[in-house]
Amino acid sequence: MKKLLTIIIMSAMAVSALADEGMWIPMLLGRNEADMKKAGMRISAKDIYDINNACLKDAILLFGGGCTGEFVSNEGLLLTNHHCGYSYIVKHSTVEHDYLTNGFWAMNRTEEIPCPGLSVTRLVRMEDVTSRVLEGVTPQTSEGERATIIEGNINKITDEAVKGTHYKAIIKPFYYGNQYFMYVNEIFTDVRLVGAPPSNIGKFGGDTDNWMWPRHTGDFSMFRVYAGSDNKPAPYSADNKPYKPLKHLEISLKGIKEGDFTFVFGYPGTTQRYVTSDAVELAANIENPIRIDLRTIRLKHYNNAMNQSAGQRLKYASRVASIANGWKKWQGETQGINRLHGVDKKKEFERSFQQWANDKAEYRDVLPQLHQAYDKLRPIEVELTYFSEAVRASDFMGRAQSYLRLANEDNESEAAKLVSSLKEANNQYFSDFNLHTAVDRAIFVETFVYMWKAGYATYLGDAALGTDAIKAKLEKIYDGSMLNDKEKLRKFLDGYNTGKANKLKDDPGVKLYDQAISIARDAEKIASYGKAYADIQRLMRSYVKGMMEMQPDVNFFPDANLTLRVAYGHVEGFRPRDGVYYKPYSTLQGIMEKENPDIYDYVVEPKLKSLYYRQDYGRYGLLDPANRAAGPDMPVGFIATNHTTGGNSGSPVLDADGRLIGLNFDRCWEGTMSDLLFDPDYCRNICLDIRYCLFIIDKFAGAKHLVDEMTLID
Ligand code: ARG
Ligand code: GLU
Repeated sequence: MKKLLTIIIMSAMAVSALADEGMWIPMLLGRNEADMKKAGMRISAKDIYDINNACLKDAILLFGGGCTGEFVSNEGLLLTNHHCGYSYIVKHSTVEHDYLTNGFWAMNRTEEIPCPGLSVTRLVRMEDVTSRVLEGVTPQTSEGERATIIEGNINKITDEAVKGTHYKAIIKPFYYGNQYFMYVNEIFTDVRLVGAPPSNIGKFGGDTDNWMWPRHTGDFSMFRVYAGSDNKPAPYSADNKPYKPLKHLEISLKGIKEGDFTFVFGYPGTTQRYVTSDAVELAANIENPIRIDLRTIRLKHYNNAMNQSAGQRLKYASRVASIANGWKKWQGETQGINRLHGVDKKKEFERSFQQWANDKAEYRDVLPQLHQAYDKLRPIEVELTYFSEAVRASDFMGRAQSYLRLANEDNESEAAKLVSSLKEANNQYFSDFNLHTAVDRAIFVETFVYMWKAGYATYLGDAALGTDAIKAKLEKIYDGSMLNDKEKLRKFLDGYNTGKANKLKDDPGVKLYDQAISIARDAEKIASYGKAYADIQRLMRSYVKGMMEMQPDVNFFPDANLTLRVAYGHVEGFRPRDGVYYKPYSTLQGIMEKENPDIYDYVVEPKLKSLYYRQDYGRYGLLDPANRAAGPDMPVGFIATNHTTGGNSGSPVLDADGRLIGLNFDRCWEGTMSDLLFDPDYCRNICLDIRYCLFIIDKFAGAKHLVDEMTLID
C-alpha cells in the first residue's frame, strides 16, 4: 500500500513539475513571483532583491572572477566551493604544509591567511539603462558607429553613477544588445582563507566523479572578508576588521525531500540558449570532439606523473583539474545534444521562425545571413581551436611564445626587461625540469602529431612523410631547442642584446611557434573572422528580438553573462537512461562504498570513518522517522532542477523560506548540454548538503567556533 501511495504521489508530482529553465534577473523577479510561489516559495521577490532594504542579494558575492560565495555570519565569514578556493589553497601549500591534501583550519582570526589577488564583489544595485545606452543610435547607424556611441554613453553613465562613492559600475548587454543593465558594485580586496577540508573530502572522487551523480564531494571552503574601520573595502592591512555584511544567510537544518522548492542565487557565466543550429553543430559535433581528443592526450601524461609523487601531484593538480573539467563536460554536452536531436530541434524552430519572418522586411534575411556568416566563421574557428588546444598544449610552446616576443623586440631597454623576467621564470621552471621534461615533451609531440594528421600543421611536412617521420622531427625540435637546455639558455640570456635576435629566431622551438601562429599573420583570414563574428553578433540581436516578437507570451530569460541571477526548481531525481533511476540525495554511506585506500581521490580518513561507525553526526544527522532503529544517516549531496552553469559554483541553494540548504557545485553529466539546450528530464544541478558541510567543520575538523558564528535554524 505504501509503495502504491508513493507511486501515486510521485506521478502527481511529475505532472505538476515545471519546466524549470531560466536564469532570471533579480531586479525583474516580480515577473516570476507568482510562478515561484506556485512552485512552493514562501518569501517574496522583494526578500530576494530590494533596492531600499537589506535583502538576500546583500549576502551574495561574486567570488574572484568566476565563482559565487555567500556570507554566513555577521562577521564576514563566507562560504564557497573547495574548487573555487582551490588555487589559493594550493598557493599556500608546500610538501611540508600540504593544506591541499590535509586541509586547513584557522583556529582563531590571526591564523586566517591573506590571499593577495583575490577579491569579492557585492552588488549594491542594478538599473535598466537601455534607453540611455542606445541614445543616438538609429536603425540607420552603422555597426561601427553604434559601438562608438554605446561606448561613449556607457562611460558617461557609469562615471555619473559612482561619482563621489567607492563603488564601481559596469554595464552589460542582454539579449545580444537589445537591452542594457548597469551594475553598481562594491569590491573587497582583503579576503582571507579560513578553512578547507582535506582533498579527500573537498575533492572526494576527484575528476572521476566530477560532473557525475551520485556524488559525495564535500566541495566547500571558507574565507573571511575584511574591511577598514569604516566597514568599507580597504586593501589588506593587519588593522582591518571583519566586514559586517548588511545581510548574512540563515542556515536551515531541516533538510530536503524530493519535490521541495529550491532556488540558486549566484553568478552564472555563459550560456548560449538562443544560438542557431549551425552554432550548436559547430560546438557539439566539430569543436568538442577536437578539444576532447587533444585533452585526452594531455591528461594521460599529467595523470601519470601525478600518480608518481606528492610533489608532482601538487605541481599539476590545478591545471589538471581545469583541463579535465572541460574535457568531461564537453563529452556530456555533445552526447546530450545528440540524444535530444538538438541540431534538428533548432532547425525545426528556425523553419517556423522563417515562416513567420517571410513577410517582415526586418527579419526575413536574418537566418539565411546567419547561416552564411557561420560558413565563413567555421573553418577559422576550427583552426583557432587547434591553436589553443594543440599548439598551446605544452609549456615548451608557451615559452616559445615569450622568446619569440623577445626576438621581435627591437628596443634595447624593453628587451632587457623581458630578459630579466624570463630569467626569473626559468629559475622556477628548471627547478624540477628533469621530471617535467618527459611529460612536456610527450605532450608537445603528441598534440602536434594529432594536429598534423588533421591537416593543420602542414609546415611540418606533407602527408607522404608519414607519422613516424613527423614524430622524429618534433622530438628533434624539442631536444635541439635551447629553450630546453638550462645552461645554454642561461648563457644566452646573460649575453643577450637585440643583435642576438636572429639567433633566437633560428631556435627550432621559436621557429616552430612562429610557423604555428601563421594564422595571426594572415590578414585576410583575421579580417574575415572578425567580420563573420561581428555579423553574427548583429544578426543575433535581430534574431532574438524577432523571437520575442514572434512569441509575445513567453518570458524569455537572457543568456548568462556573469551577472547575478536566480534559478528556481525542485529537488528531484531523474532517469539518466533506460532502467536507471537516480535518487535525489546521497549519504555518507556512499562515501564508504566508494572508499579505496589505493586511490588518492577515494581515500577516506580514519577520523571520518570513525564518526561514521559511531553514527556521531551531532545535530546534523538525519533520522528517518520510519526507521528510527537504523539510527541517523549523514546526508552529503542532493540534486535539483535549477538551471545553472559555470560560475554558479559556490552559489547558495536556498529553500522556500530563503534559508541556506546547500552549496551548488556541479551539474549532472547527462544534462551538461543545458548551456545550449535545457531539458527538465535530464538537467540537474548538484549541491552539497549544508548539513554535511557543518558536520565536517564541527565534528571532523573541530572548528565549532566557525559554526557558532552562523545562524542555524532547526
Ligand atoms: N565540474 C565542476 C565545475 O564545473 C567542478 C570542477 C572542479 N572539480 C574537479 N574535479 N575538477 O566547475
Ligand atoms: N563547477 C561549476 C563552476 O565552477 C558549476 C558547474 C556547472 O557548470 O554548472 O561554476
